Amino acid sequence: MISNEYKERQRKFLKTINDNGIVIVFAAKDPKDHQKAVCKFRQNSDFYYLTGFEESDAIAVFIRGRKSWEYILFSQEKKPEIEVWTGKKIGQIQAREEYGADQAFPLEKATAMIPELIKSHQQIYFNTNDHEDYELILSWVRSLQGQERQGFNPPLELIDIGKELHEMRMRKSPEEILLIRKACEISAAAHLRAMKACKPGIREYELEAELVYDFLRQGGSAPAFEPIIAGGVNACILHYTKNDMLLKDGDLVLIDVGVEYKHYAGDITRTLPINGKFSLAQRAVYQAVLDTQLAVIKAIKPGITWFELHQLSERLITEKLLTLGLLQGKLEDLVVAKAFKPFYMHFIGHWLGLDVHDVGFYKIKEDQWRKVEPGMVFTVEPGIYIDPEISGIDKKWAGIGVRIEDDILVTENGCEVLTAGVPKSIEAIESLMQN
Ligand code: GLY
Ligand code: MN
Repeated sequence: MISNEYKERQRKFLKTINDNGIVIVFAAKDPKDHQKAVCKFRQNSDFYYLTGFEESDAIAVFIRGRKSWEYILFSQEKKPEIEVWTGKKIGQIQAREEYGADQAFPLEKATAMIPELIKSHQQIYFNTNDHEDYELILSWVRSLQGQERQGFNPPLELIDIGKELHEMRMRKSPEEILLIRKACEISAAAHLRAMKACKPGIREYELEAELVYDFLRQGGSAPAFEPIIAGGVNACILHYTKNDMLLKDGDLVLIDVGVEYKHYAGDITRTLPINGKFSLAQRAVYQAVLDTQLAVIKAIKPGITWFELHQLSERLITEKLLTLGLLQGKLEDLVVAKAFKPFYMHFIGHWLGLDVHDVGFYKIKEDQWRKVEPGMVFTVEPGIYIDPEISGIDKKWAGIGVRIEDDILVTENGCEVLTAGVPKSIEAIESLMQN
């Protein structure tokens, strides 16, 4: 039985729909792969957010009825010859009784019924997983052309549901915050395990195995994204996923991994000395990134824009690069010229939720960045990456890459670090790894 949360989301979202609009939301498709035989399914996040329905190959239609909105669900039919392979399907009776659909039909009926439903509506609000969904909508609209003389004008406007729905998804409900908290806790515990398992001579994938084991052991469904276990110079590749190199005594390892728990993502990065002790050069770069991260987190409060936080990180990283001697010149000039870019080339973070890089515009108008609000969740993940190929750097820095990432909930007065369970000070990391 789904919670009232979904009914409430539908109610809130449908209030934003024009008088003459109808809503069509596609579930994700079964990732059939006959060669692979068994594939993991992940629901479309917009579809899941609105319906709580976890099955593939479904279409939700919301249409104004005589009194209020009606929710019509097209989904897989229960077929014993399929269920013997995949397990029980929800089917149409349960869709009505437990998932709140007012009417439910087998998916095969969609193409015959949906053109009739969209007839006489001017706007179709929709999502897509791929081109096929888009083509389907267009084919339904096209099938109505030629009926104008019977008094039916086919819909003329297609509107992405993201415009309103993603605004809702940005502001997490208490129920969502509980799930994100849990994803963060599981991710943090797994990072702690990896910290304890880390030692010279093992391969990157051995740390990956520790993390993934701990995710599943704690009830997580999978890593929320491909784990990044980047030893030594690999840390200078932001999305390094090969994870097969030997971890060498004296190098750092950057671990950027988070779990997916009940559809919600955690996302944590820690950078560790493989042998448990930072060298002087590693310590200096690490502290520079940590001080930047702490200062940005301190600045988070309702009303500040995400871009102001990013700019603060650019300025602080530039200051640190000057102190380390990796940049020379005047702070202001270097910030304006973006001289930090070879060392810090990404943004300060991203929204987090049902998706790791969650939905929601960062800029709400051409010249206006979004202000953060209580209930928003995002990552703060500055880094310094010193690729050995950057010319003119002292070789003591070459190949050091550090990123430190935590997940943040904006509160009424500031913020809460949801991933505080994994240590990040030099002392705490060294003491944990050496004991
Ligand atoms: N955790 C990977 C990223 O944020 O890009
Ligand atoms: Mn991230």
